[in-house]
Amino acid sequence: MSEDIQSGLKHVMRVCPQGVTVVTAQGPDGPRGLTVSSFTSVSLTPPLVLFCVAKNSSQHDLFCSAPNFAVNFLADDQKTISDRFAGRTTAQDRFQGVKHARGVTGPPIIAGVRAAIECRPWALHDAGDHSIVVAEVVAASAASSKRPLVYYSQQYTTTERGESPAPPSDIVW
Ligand SMILES: Cc1cc2nc3c(=O)[nH]c(=O)nc-3n(C[C@H](O)[C@H](O)[C@H](O)COP(=O)(O)O)c2cc1C
Repeated sequence: MSEDIQSGLKHVMRVCPQGVTVVTAQGPDGPRGLTVSSFTSVSLTPPLVLFCVAKNSSQHDLFCSAPNFAVNFLADDQKTISDRFAGRTTAQDRFQGVKHARGVTGPPIIAGVRAAIECRPWALHDAGDHSIVVAEVVAASAASSKRPLVYYSQQYTTTERGESPAPPSDIVW
């Protein structure tokens, strides 16, 4: 792909608002996480989701091999969490000072997120400079009706409407 097409694609993607998530897993040396806006749902039967992880990310190999992981849906007051897990701060340990608990299948769930799902890997696809991780959802929880954190035109923003439908109580399939 020429540089013109690459920069054109980046420019076009800026018109597309994306929700911000942090994908987390228990690594060999403690909890690990990566800010991800490429998350989307794929299928209801079976319940599948996907996200893309850059091959040059320090977290790539972990998230392509973890036996289970969580997707944390950030709220609009969690910009610092997004920056932290995007490696935009000097913190060596991204989880240092970040309150979290272990989900029912083990991965870290970050405190104060709007919702979280727990997944196990279903398929892994090669896709240029990224890998596509397709995962089966095994548990879900919704904890707050705060506004979502949205990434749009290289900046954080949120939605005009704050209220979500009443969150379901924790669901484990
Ligand atoms: C809002 C936002 C969304 C991002 N979405 C993705 C994504 O979907 N996939 C990805 O691989 N990196 C994504 N990144 C970049 C990674 O979070 C970041 O580059 C990475 O953590 C830094 O590389 P490192 O893990 O090697 O330190 C995103 C960053 C931000 C700020």
